Amino acid sequence: MEVWVLGYILLLSSVSGMPLQTKGVSERNGASLSSSHAVSPARAARHRDPQAIIIGVRKGGTRALLEMLNLHPDVVAAASEVHFFDQDENYDKGLAWYRAQMPPSLPGQVTVEKTPGYFSSVKAPERIHAMNSSVRLLLIVRDPVERLVSDYTQVLHNRQQRAKPYPRLEKILLRGGQLNIQYKAIQRSLYALHLSRWLRFFSIGQIHVVDGGKLIRDPLPELRRAERFLGLAPRISAANFYFNQTKGFYCLRGEGGHGKCLDESKGRPHPTVEGAILERLCTFFSRHNEDFFSMVGKTFNWC
Ligand SMILES: *[C@@H]1O[C@H](CO)[C@@H](O)[C@H](O)[C@H]1NC(C)=O
Ligand SMILES: *[C@@H]1O[C@H](CO)[C@@H](O)[C@H](O)[C@H]1NC(C)=O
Repeated sequence: MEVWVLGYILLLSSVSGMPLQTKGVSERNGASLSSSHAVSPARAARHRDPQAIIIGVRKGGTRALLEMLNLHPDVVAAASEVHFFDQDENYDKGLAWYRAQMPPSLPGQVTVEKTPGYFSSVKAPERIHAMNSSVRLLLIVRDPVERLVSDYTQVLHNRQQRAKPYPRLEKILLRGGQLNIQYKAIQRSLYALHLSRWLRFFSIGQIHVVDGGKLIRDPLPELRRAERFLGLAPRISAANFYFNQTKGFYCLRGEGGHGKCLDESKGRPHPTVEGAILERLCTFFSRHNEDFFSMVGKTFNWC
């Protein structure tokens, strides 16, 4: 019998129906302002390289983090995942193409994009460093075992939508009684491994780690820290959130006062996984987790 439990998740992945909008600027405003010489062209809205990038982790709450940061009046967020630094066919289009994917912004505003695929990409750290060696990076993490199950669940769901079969997680995880550590969802949960590649190019002070578990339980303190890291005035407030009892997590309230909750697909139920397997995964990840904690100088309450 398959018991389904509501995965805590992601409020974290997408706030349905909440368009990411530019604030106080639009393409048209920018153009008319500069053409009328009302302000100097340097003050006009234009496409800029992001000053901050949410690099991962996949299924860690990157969408929620971006939507929440976007509540700040001085943050402009790219609407979709750009996949510039992790996909050669995009990277080959060049930086001008990348910049054109960003929403127009005013000087002083912080442009943010998020592509969770960057974190585990071998090429992304060097490429991002080449764009701007002082860019600010945000990394949102959650319990690696929960992340793995969520990762599996997403693929399972996609397969089911197309009426395709997909093995049980236990079957993918075990090969001849051994953990199949080549499984991508295991690899993507090896945070220390990936972070060490970023640290060849960036100092740890340039990488701000957000606790995905805390962000959904109590968003404000995590957002305060993120604002500080981004050099922003503290403008996101408790009034931007309300707890939805039915959903069991916070929804967002933007400038217009309209509440926006997450897409149903984001709180997708996880299939129950055998306790013995979960324990085995916890044991496997514990050493990697310890490495990650010492790299970031912070401990997380993981399995
Ligand atoms: C590089 O990133 C830093 C930190 O966000 C920012 O202050 C600076 O303006 C960026 N440089 C360029 C050329 O975009
Ligand atoms: C709370 O969540 C429920 C269930 O998803 C949804 O139908 C309802 O619109 C939400 N209410 C508010 C005020 O966001």
